[in-house]
Amino acid sequence: MRATQPGIRQPILETLRSAQGRWVSGESLSVDLGVSRAAVSKQIQALRDMGFVIESARRKGHRLLEEPDVLFPESVGPRLRGTRFGGKPLHWLESTPSTNDLALAFAREGAPEGTLVIAEVQTAGRGRRGRSWFGKAGDSLMFSVVLRPPLEPARCALLPLLAASAVRMGLGELGFSRSGIKWPNDVLVGKRKLGGILCEMSSEFDRVEHAVMGIGLNINTPPESFPDDIAETACSLRGETGRSWERARVLEAILRHMDRYLLEAWENRFDRVLRDWRAGSVTLGSRVQALLPDGTRLQGMAENLDPSGALVLRLDTGERRLLTGGEISLNA
Ligand code: BTN
Repeated sequence: MRATQPGIRQPILETLRSAQGRWVSGESLSVDLGVSRAAVSKQIQALRDMGFVIESARRKGHRLLEEPDVLFPESVGPRLRGTRFGGKPLHWLESTPSTNDLALAFAREGAPEGTLVIAEVQTAGRGRRGRSWFGKAGDSLMFSVVLRPPLEPARCALLPLLAASAVRMGLGELGFSRSGIKWPNDVLVGKRKLGGILCEMSSEFDRVEHAVMGIGLNINTPPESFPDDIAETACSLRGETGRSWERARVLEAILRHMDRYLLEAWENRFDRVLRDWRAGSVTLGSRVQALLPDGTRLQGMAENLDPSGALVLRLDTGERRLLTGGEISLNA
């Protein structure tokens, strides 16, 4: 496992960034940061090794020409300022079994709310209902956040819906407005799945210890690289729009929306989450087939979303049922 935590590399990068391609002298960097010129040069080289294209010239200094699309803490951290994720532990890993597993372990050890775990590769990525999750190195967005909900455990059933709304709103803000939410938290484009959310929590009888929200999104995944079993049902932003997307920007947009929702949610106010979820739902008003956790199948019309996050189903028999778990398929 390799995790990076930025030191003086981050302020060097930020200074180069804010110079917007202009030269920054090694002398001014070393004076401003109170370190030697050699220490600056070492970190400039480390940034190059990470994929940043930095030109250096005698008597001119250094200038940043290009940034890699890798979710290094140096790239992501500054974007999260002003949210609960800013200034919190940010773990980036080339590879880990599952960001949810790691975030849960950090949470058990006392990691604060806002701790973020991002991976380029998951060797045992987990989906809902015991399924695996496919992600492609460099192209997918796979991350988990640690939360400490000051809520009763039952209210946390709304967190997956909150996450789905944050994803949809974040994508919308960046100009992609064609995503929809299938109850409870699949992010779809048309009938294909763009992303999934896995929320897990540890609670006592009436108190939540911690929750982890894991999100996986197919961003720049070439459609032909999906494994056979999901080739017909998965999609990516790039496949849908014909261009690539900067993953750090997508992550920032999602986390900013999530942060705003959480501000309200931690005061037990979910009205905006519910409203946005309903507005983005592709489930409500559709005929669905539901598969309950005990294996029972039901058919009916998805009428509404209950304020608890349950799906209100009108069965073909006329009976009204509340779904709190399981999953649905559309247009049954
Ligand atoms: C689903 O739709 O079944 C949920 C998929 C959730 C996948 C994400 S990727 C990041 C985080 N780590 C995991 O192991 N799973 C979630």
